[in-house]
Amino acid sequence: MSDRRLATSILVGKAVLGAFRLRRDPGAMLIRPFQSIDPYPLYERIRALGKVVPSKLGMLLVTDYELCNAVLRDPAYGVAPNAEVGQPDPKVGGMVDPLSDSFLFRDPPDHGRLRHVVSPLFTPRAMHDRRARIEAVVDDFLDQLAGREEFDLVGEFAARVPIKIICDLLGVPDAEHRRMIHWGTVLATSIDGMGSMAQVREWRATLRELNAFLAERIAEHRAEPNDDVIGRMLADGSMAEDDLLATAGLLLAAGFETTVNLIGNGVLAMLANPAVRQRLVDDPSATDTIVEEILRLDPPIQYTARMALPGGQARLAGRPVPTGRVIVLLTAAANRDPAVFGDPHRFDPDRPNAREHLTFSSGVHYCLGAGLARMEGAIALRALFRRFPDLRVGGTVRRHPSRAVRGPLHLPVRVTARHPAAIG
Ligand code: HEM
Repeated sequence: MSDRRLATSILVGKAVLGAFRLRRDPGAMLIRPFQSIDPYPLYERIRALGKVVPSKLGMLLVTDYELCNAVLRDPAYGVAPNAEVGQPDPKVGGMVDPLSDSFLFRDPPDHGRLRHVVSPLFTPRAMHDRRARIEAVVDDFLDQLAGREEFDLVGEFAARVPIKIICDLLGVPDAEHRRMIHWGTVLATSIDGMGSMAQVREWRATLRELNAFLAERIAEHRAEPNDDVIGRMLADGSMAEDDLLATAGLLLAAGFETTVNLIGNGVLAMLANPAVRQRLVDDPSATDTIVEEILRLDPPIQYTARMALPGGQARLAGRPVPTGRVIVLLTAAANRDPAVFGDPHRFDPDRPNAREHLTFSSGVHYCLGAGLARMEGAIALRALFRRFPDLRVGGTVRRHPSRAVRGPLHLPVRVTARHPAAIG
């Protein structure tokens, strides 16, 4: 598609969205051009309309926990790239997009073949072996904040931890972390679809840079084999060059853009719930359930989508779904389904089923990095509040400019300065 047609289609798409938004179509309300401060009241409005809510934009919206879970596990549905607004693919000549070209957006059997190459690196055992390293990285970044009374919690802590960990796994040097942050933000924002040609240009430039960067890393690994993630993909020998680029890019982007927001959302949740925050500091055995409740109540990824595959087998709430129909699964809303989670809007660290949330999806695409994210979140949050017991918001919180990705982009905080020697 030419850029002129792409630009026209973006404009038409925005006009259609605007028109349907005026008519309060629930799908158009969800796809908003401005950042949403609090999407949860909207999810409740959609829930009140029924378990399956049709949008004039063509998709069906689902907030019901059981239905979301069932669709995610049903082989009659496949992944749905650019699904929300039926936008054309903005990619040009030979670019590899770590999101739409990776196994995140492939259906079985291709999906399993590619996932299988890297999944051994994310087993519980492999994660256990990483724990000490994550603790050391977290302590080091906290040490670097010693003596400071104000800092940006995201830029100077929450983003640094997962970037360091995933870059270590992929053999990416520290000097490159800053570029990663920029690439990650551009890619994460692209999940919502393109809002302007300026965004398309920035996204293309990012893909070019990222592709070139990863191609260099792959070439280095070919010259000097080692046993990190890229080394393992090369040793497996089954992946085409584009799959190598897409998988490495997916791990990089998925590995930090989400976990940064888990830590950021977790900090906001602890500041809003001082008793839980105290428990996080005092009782190490409570950390894991507190993290699950953060993941349930304020997920870094708010929704995903699936599409009814050819074959006529897809059903939803007992009714057949036509091939190609897109289902938007509002997993962040499903996490607050009162039929599954009692008093669903309350932060309850003793909730027995908190771990059943759909924040990491369900079925074959269940997040490969869930164990790593949980561990990073738990270690980072506990160490942060132990180190800075009086941490508080110190300025205006700016949120991620995305609808699908939720978390603070800048979170200025204040603490009472302590020096490493004074820290027990
Ligand atoms: C709190 C942090 C995280 C959240 C909320 C999260 C969320 C998700 C979700 C919702 C999906 C599935 C999307 C769908 O079904 O359409 C997914 C897939 C994936 N995630 Fe995560 N993720 C997180 C951290 C990580 C980390 C640390 C990694 C590390 C490498 C990672 C790697 C992946 C990969 C490779 C997939 C694709 C799985 C597949 O398609 O089979 N994620 N993640």
